[in-house]
Amino acid sequence: MESWVEDIEFERLSIPARIAKKLLINPLANYLPAAMVKGLLRICKSELALSNWRDPGGWRSMVISYDGNPEKGIDKMLVTSGSIPTALRNRRRLASRLIARLIDHAPHEPAHVLCLGAGPGTIITDAMGQAEHDSVATLVDISSDAFDYGRRQAAERGLSERVRFIQGDVRDVKGMLDKQVDLVKMVGICEYLEDEQITSIARAVAEVMPAGTSIVFNSISKRHGTDRFFRRVFGLHMIHRSPQQLQELLEPVGFGEFTVFAEPLGVYNIVVCKRLAAPAAETGNNTPKEAE
Ligand SMILES: C[S@@+](CC[C@H](N)C(=O)[O-])C[C@H]1O[C@@H](n2cnc3c(N)ncnc32)[C@H](O)[C@@H]1O
Repeated sequence: MESWVEDIEFERLSIPARIAKKLLINPLANYLPAAMVKGLLRICKSELALSNWRDPGGWRSMVISYDGNPEKGIDKMLVTSGSIPTALRNRRRLASRLIARLIDHAPHEPAHVLCLGAGPGTIITDAMGQAEHDSVATLVDISSDAFDYGRRQAAERGLSERVRFIQGDVRDVKGMLDKQVDLVKMVGICEYLEDEQITSIARAVAEVMPAGTSIVFNSISKRHGTDRFFRRVFGLHMIHRSPQQLQELLEPVGFGEFTVFAEPLGVYNIVVCKRLAAPAAETGNNTPKEAE
């Protein structure tokens, strides 16, 4: 699997940019009075800030970061030089490549991918476009307003007939699983869920995943250095967990063979694990493996 991602062109931060962030930009962002920073973002009409205030961690701010080319000057600065937006674009490239190759290795065509907290489905439609094999996707999101954008995006990519959108809370995923899935994508969602919710979602999807099929999810670390800023200014309360901590949530409900893929900023890891035929304790094959 490591060879699948070798040629991805990631975005990186230069050494001067990293030093400036550590010594100046992050301390200012984290410790200037929140009211002052919010006021400044309001005056500059930041769409990134507005979309986060309306829907913290929602799909719109993600799309602004993905596109990397917003209208307002303040957003351009935040999106092109911010650690989280840059790492998000890296995460998108990494996750879509892995999902595309997993679709190609699915036992039958079309492979059915279940996407939880999918937003408009940018990553899955990227992956479906990259995959050589055929696939269909079910996209679940709590916010139906992501779907109009998602349908347009799917149409532009010639994928309208291969995606279906379901409005729902992934915490109730059990009631939505009407057919077997070949791959589950949980990218951009675990950081908004409590431990018990992740475990119960994994337990529910395990019931419709044949042995050997995969879940693709991500961890987030505090290496972006701006958690205090995101909490105070954007109202974004993400739960930071290591790949190991996520593994500990998924192992007891029947997943193993965890492989971790890092993006170069060290903010996100994409983790792939497999549905085991028997509970992890019986197979003993759960030593985590770092991808190069
Ligand atoms: C940060 S966006 C990630 C979108 C997409 N997965 C990606 O990585 O590009 C998080 C998405 O999860 C959705 N979401 C958050 N909590 C949810 C829940 N409990 N059930 C379903 N969707 C949820 C939000 O509406 C949003 O679209």
